[in-house]
Amino acid sequence: MGFTSTWTVLLLILLTELKVLCQDHYEDYETEEEALPDMYTYTFDVYECAKECFCPPSYPYAMYCDHRKLKTIPDVPGHVRHLYVQFNEIEAITTKSFTNATSLRDINLSHNKLQSSLVERGAFTKLQQLIYLHLEHNNLEEVPTSLPKTLQRLHLGFNKISKLTGDTIRELSSITVLDLCSNRLTDAGIRGRALSGMKNLLQINMCSNKLRSMPPDLPGSLLQLSVENNSISSIPEGYFRKTPNILSIRATRNKLKAVPYNVFNLSRLMDLNLGHNQLSKTFFVPQSLEHLYLNHNDYKELNVSLMCPSVDRDHPNMLTYIRIDNNKLRGSVDYHAYTCFPRMRMIFYGEQQRADEDEPSK
Ligand SMILES: *[C@@H]1O[C@H](CO)[C@@H](O)[C@H](O)[C@H]1NC(C)=O
Ligand SMILES: *[C@@H]1O[C@H](CO)[C@@H](O)[C@H](O)[C@H]1NC(C)=O
Ligand SMILES: *[C@@H]1O[C@H](CO)[C@@H](O)[C@H](O)[C@H]1NC(C)=O
Ligand SMILES: *[C@@H]1O[C@H](CO)[C@@H](O)[C@H](O)[C@H]1NC(C)=O
Ligand SMILES: *[C@@H]1O[C@H](CO)[C@@H](O)[C@H](O)[C@H]1NC(C)=O
Repeated sequence: MGFTSTWTVLLLILLTELKVLCQDHYEDYETEEEALPDMYTYTFDVYECAKECFCPPSYPYAMYCDHRKLKTIPDVPGHVRHLYVQFNEIEAITTKSFTNATSLRDINLSHNKLQSSLVERGAFTKLQQLIYLHLEHNNLEEVPTSLPKTLQRLHLGFNKISKLTGDTIRELSSITVLDLCSNRLTDAGIRGRALSGMKNLLQINMCSNKLRSMPPDLPGSLLQLSVENNSISSIPEGYFRKTPNILSIRATRNKLKAVPYNVFNLSRLMDLNLGHNQLSKTFFVPQSLEHLYLNHNDYKELNVSLMCPSVDRDHPNMLTYIRIDNNKLRGSVDYHAYTCFPRMRMIFYGEQQRADEDEPSK
């Protein structure tokens, strides 16, 4: 019995002290009269959210406004860093849209109805922290003007862009990824050294446009070029001299008939995709190349001695995979290929068309 009461007393003392502690704390809080409104305002600001949108309480820097049939961009509170307004019916961007939104790091405006004529000049200028901008699947006819220099990734795929002019994009020196696939770009539309000013560009995608020649003035920083599904018919001699670090070239589905023998003599090139063209002449394969796609072309023979004119045992060729199906090859691939390319894992020979198959009576 004595034992229990000792504990009860101890517990009571503890509780009393706790209460005193709490009271002290409470009183401290009460006395600091000026601290209270400040904290209150701060908390209120962090959780502010446009009424049309959802801001997760656990991460109030993100504002989700996607799939809501919105016609205008909701008011963005100053603290919001990530704005998701994809899949709506927004046509216009005005300077007012982002008046207070100076903390924005990324904006997803993809799948809307944006029109260039309704994107106000300077609408994005204030966004001095913007890094990612998704504008794919809209009706833009031009790249918006005065985008902030901080921008690193710009997605403009599936729009109606027909020209790139130097004055709109040259200043974007932080851009690393520029996606312009599925637009209406023509050779004449790329003017005024539009691309060479992007000193940090690593990847440019221009697939499914209306290009008839390779894009001019690529910057020296480039690592990946994608120009699939255009109507490009040639690659000029020395074209890649300005982009010596390039790792990957994709030019599938074009009208290439021949390429200069040396044009891919690049010291870091690893992937080369030239499927679905009209190539018939072999070209030099650089030592670094690992994957080569030549399927759906017009090759009647693959002259391995031309692809690989000399064997350097100290620096063996890295090629591991060739795809060469759907050409007009007869007979098997020259066994010299395995001497020249000691790392070869697979030559995908697949089906071949007969040489006369697509050359009907003249
Ligand atoms: C910007 O902030 C001011 C002051 O808080 C507010 O009055 C105004 O409505 C805000 N504008 C927008 C477009 O959010
Ligand atoms: C932006 O929206 C597209 C859909 O168009 C989606 O694929 C992409 O993941 C979104 N990006 C972000 C960062 O949410
Ligand atoms: C190629 O581009 C055209 C438009 O130029 C598009 O309609 C077609 O779907 C694209 N094909 C592929 C395989 O991407
Ligand atoms: C490839 O380039 C190197 C140096 O850049 C040069 O020495 C070599 O002769 C070239 N090879 C061919 C086949 O042109
Ligand atoms: C490959 O091309 C070279 C140079 O044109 C030629 O001398 C050689 O006979 C060709 N080899 C084969 C197997 O056709």
